[in-house]
Amino acid sequence: MPERTIVPKASLPCSLPPDDKHAILRVVPMPSDANMYGDVFGGWIMSQVDIAGSILAARRANGRVATVAVNAFTFTQPVFVGDLLSFYVDIIKTGRTSITVSVEVYAERQRLQHEVVKVTEATLTYVATDTNRRSRELPPLD
Ligand SMILES: CC(C)(COP(=O)(O)OP(=O)(O)OC[C@H]1O[C@@H](n2cnc3c(N)ncnc32)[C@H](O)[C@@H]1OP(=O)(O)O)[C@@H](O)C(=O)NCCC(=O)NCCS
Repeated sequence: MPERTIVPKASLPCSLPPDDKHAILRVVPMPSDANMYGDVFGGWIMSQVDIAGSILAARRANGRVATVAVNAFTFTQPVFVGDLLSFYVDIIKTGRTSITVSVEVYAERQRLQHEVVKVTEATLTYVATDTNRRSRELPPLD
């Protein structure tokens, strides 16, 4: 397999994916995910970000979670049909019942050339919920 080379964009302050982390989700947008101009619809990216964030939040909550807030969301570069999107998630804060995560999304474009650019960053808050959809206390860390 050829070695992976990342081409940083000089105009982008932070275009390199974190070396030390694994993407929690990878997905390739299809033509049906595009807007009327042919680029990927922002709402589709938002739903993928919510899914990615919820994976880590549900792990921390050891069970179901609900999204209570989208605190910040920035689309820094467009996403194109066929990009390989990688979602990197970190827990940045926990409370009694809530988990706040940051999500960074990188797009690997024109995959034969291995160009990678950061396309989206977001912060979301999830609440651990019980089977009645009421908030519940987070379990202690092991
Ligand atoms: C999630 C839900 C059960 C929480 O209800 P609740 O427990 O009565 O809400 P609270 O006001 O006590 O807040 C619970 C936690 O969320 C946090 N929270 C509430 N609103 C918040 C906001 N706008 N931003 C960040 N955190 C928020 C609170 O600070 C609290 O955190 P803590 O326990 O760690 O201190 C309820 O709001 C709900 O069902 N929301 C709909 C969820 C949903 O359907 N999401 C998908 C929609 S697309």
